[in-house]
Amino acid sequence: MRDLTSLLAATGATLARIAADFSPAVFASSLAAEDMVLTDLILRAGLPITIFSLDTGRLNPETVAVIDAVRARYGYNIAVYHPQAQAVADYVAANGLNAFYNSVEMRRECCRIRKVEPLGRARAGQRAWVTGQRRAQSSTRAELAVQEDDPAHGMVKFNPLADWSEQDVWDYLRANEVPYNALHDQGFPSIGCAPCTRAVEAGEDVRAGRWWWENPDQKECGLHMVDGKLIRVKSVAA
Ligand code: ADX
Ligand code: SF4
Repeated sequence: MRDLTSLLAATGATLARIAADFSPAVFASSLAAEDMVLTDLILRAGLPITIFSLDTGRLNPETVAVIDAVRARYGYNIAVYHPQAQAVADYVAANGLNAFYNSVEMRRECCRIRKVEPLGRARAGQRAWVTGQRRAQSSTRAELAVQEDDPAHGMVKFNPLADWSEQDVWDYLRANEVPYNALHDQGFPSIGCAPCTRAVEAGEDVRAGRWWWENPDQKECGLHMVDGKLIRVKSVAA
């Protein structure tokens, strides 16, 4: 039966397996709700999975504040990766500060500089990386598996919350009084960079506020793409 208790048991087992069989492993946290579920599970179980976040330089203050909330609650310092200052300066000088509104290519280039390149540094030397993606989040994630091979990076990728619903996430966060990004209470179900995220109306898709000017099937930032494509390689062990 699918309830929060059985989901939690399965997710806890996945995290324990990552720690036991796939060390060294890292967890990429965007500091949003899903990632706070995983943060709480990893830190309360004392699992040796290093948590990092990519500070793009365009995050909302409410998002950055979650780093301090985690330090206060768990005594844990999330590792923060920044983009290369020169690459950001060159992009802004050539295209302007907000060129990502002009085209999908400009948007992906900004994401490449501010997220994808730092992600490469954060994943270097690791055997596995963990994300907070869920299948129900978007059309681009409908085929998401809990465990995927990531051959382009020579790693295994885990999405331990693949089966979770948005309600499951909030039930968990509330039951365990986990700190979360204050923007979630202001109409932001999904949170990325400030200029690329807006609040959504009741009934709108959870990712409707992300890159809202783009086609829904293009809305992936590159963190989960290889050479501009989404690649899903369901691992045999999943
Ligand atoms: S994404 O398109 O920006 O990747 P989303 O915000 O739904 O979408 O994030 C999905 C997962 O990508 C998060 O659960 C997290 O694992 C990873 N992620 C996204 N943004 C960041 C970030 N700034 N730092 C670290 N991980 C991130
Ligand atoms: Fe740039 Fe927007 Fe991507 Fe952030 S989400 S890296 S501001 S294009």
